[in-house]
Amino acid sequence: MSVRTPRLPRPTPSRRAFGAATVTAVAALAAATLLPTGQAGAADTSLRSLAEAKGIYFGTAMTQGDLNNSALTTVAGRQFGMLTPGNEMKWDTTEPSQGTFDFAPADRIASFAQTNSMKLRGHTLVWHSQLPSWVSSLPTAQVKAAMENHITNEVAHYKGKLYSWDVVNEPFNEDGSFRSDAFHNAMGSGFVADALRTARAADPNAKLYLNDYNIEGQNPKSDAMYNLVKSLKSQGVPVDGVGFQAHFILGQVPSTFQANLQRFAALGVNVAITELDDRIQLPASTTGLAQQAGDYAAVVNTCLAVTGCVGITQWGVGDADSWIPGTFPGYGAATMYDADYRPKPAYAASVTALGGSAGSSPTPGASCKVTGAVNAWNSGLTEDITLTNTGSTTINGWSLAFTLPAGQTVTSSWNASLTPAGGQVAATNLGYNGTLAPGASTSFGFQATHTGKTSLPALFSLNGAPCTTA
Ligand code: XIL
Repeated sequence: MSVRTPRLPRPTPSRRAFGAATVTAVAALAAATLLPTGQAGAADTSLRSLAEAKGIYFGTAMTQGDLNNSALTTVAGRQFGMLTPGNEMKWDTTEPSQGTFDFAPADRIASFAQTNSMKLRGHTLVWHSQLPSWVSSLPTAQVKAAMENHITNEVAHYKGKLYSWDVVNEPFNEDGSFRSDAFHNAMGSGFVADALRTARAADPNAKLYLNDYNIEGQNPKSDAMYNLVKSLKSQGVPVDGVGFQAHFILGQVPSTFQANLQRFAALGVNVAITELDDRIQLPASTTGLAQQAGDYAAVVNTCLAVTGCVGITQWGVGDADSWIPGTFPGYGAATMYDADYRPKPAYAASVTALGGSAGSSPTPGASCKVTGAVNAWNSGLTEDITLTNTGSTTINGWSLAFTLPAGQTVTSSWNASLTPAGGQVAATNLGYNGTLAPGASTSFGFQATHTGKTSLPALFSLNGAPCTTA
């Protein structure tokens, strides 16, 4: 089977080249194509346009109730270019009793997407959860026909209207064995291939995905998904992509995320982040929000670094409509927008990671200035960086993101903890230097090896908002 090319355009220069030239070109493109006249100069920094300029999409999920919230819909239509119905395409809504289909709720979401020129991800056809009890009560001999009928009807209803379908959702247990649900009990692991083939027959153009959680890093569950996709591809079963839900816990984006996406892409399937959120134990502190900004930037950078990663979808628009507080008591604040749909540091960090500029600071008083000095020798260097709070409010906990020149690898640091060692790095305060009053400065530094480039890092941002450099 040939490798499927993502449907979204790939601009040149390559989106891997994250240099100043690319950033300028992206900003110019955004300004040229998207700004109403009279606003020249202020680049469009929406997630959707920045992502599209990089050849990926940025999406969100919405439920019917969200359609009545104008603060939410304004952000959704402006910032996101892909939409997933949060619940409305699930079996309990679309076929609540056998043979009776109801697509009205999902059609409302689809029509919002159309009005706002968003593409749609279909979610989901075959899943153990939000499954009406009539399916699990069927004699096993009847489950296959019921599943095929469900897929055929639902996919046919949306034929030609969807970018992709999550055909099978969450087929695996944590240890990599198949989940024992109505489908596996009736058909064994063959239900996956059967579902994919049935979906392909009903809409030959929608991209067909398998979707799961806790498969973002390399582990027994992602190994099982990998082996399944490999085996399906070798049998010519139509599978076009793997969705990584990415319901992360603060600070726990797996270190093997990129390598894992890469190995799936190497099988000739697309990969997508389908349900991103990053939950924080409540109440969220400034330090937590800064760490979350780093986590979001890491996710964006990971998708951008993997050819075959077609896009990122956040699960919900803002903290107020997120599923997290209801499902994980004590946790919340998991999205890029606060309860009033104001952007959080994670938003600015995502914009920055997409090559945009967050413009006016989303964190009141978080404006900053950075100065630095390098002391280099043939293969190594030390660097001292001074960070000044030029805003009008005290910063409690800081995370300074910057891009290290190619070839520089951090080997040690002082007065801050740096991670990762190269590329897009976040320097986070230690226990004793997290507080920065207005006008106050703090210094930290690091030692690094280099391969010839000894210049200062670029693109500094503090808690997600860009800093000036002197
Ligand atoms: C969640 C919805 O957001 C909630 O409103 C609903 O109560 C439960 O399902 N993985 C998935 C999504 O694939 O469909 C789930 O959505 C979140 C976990």
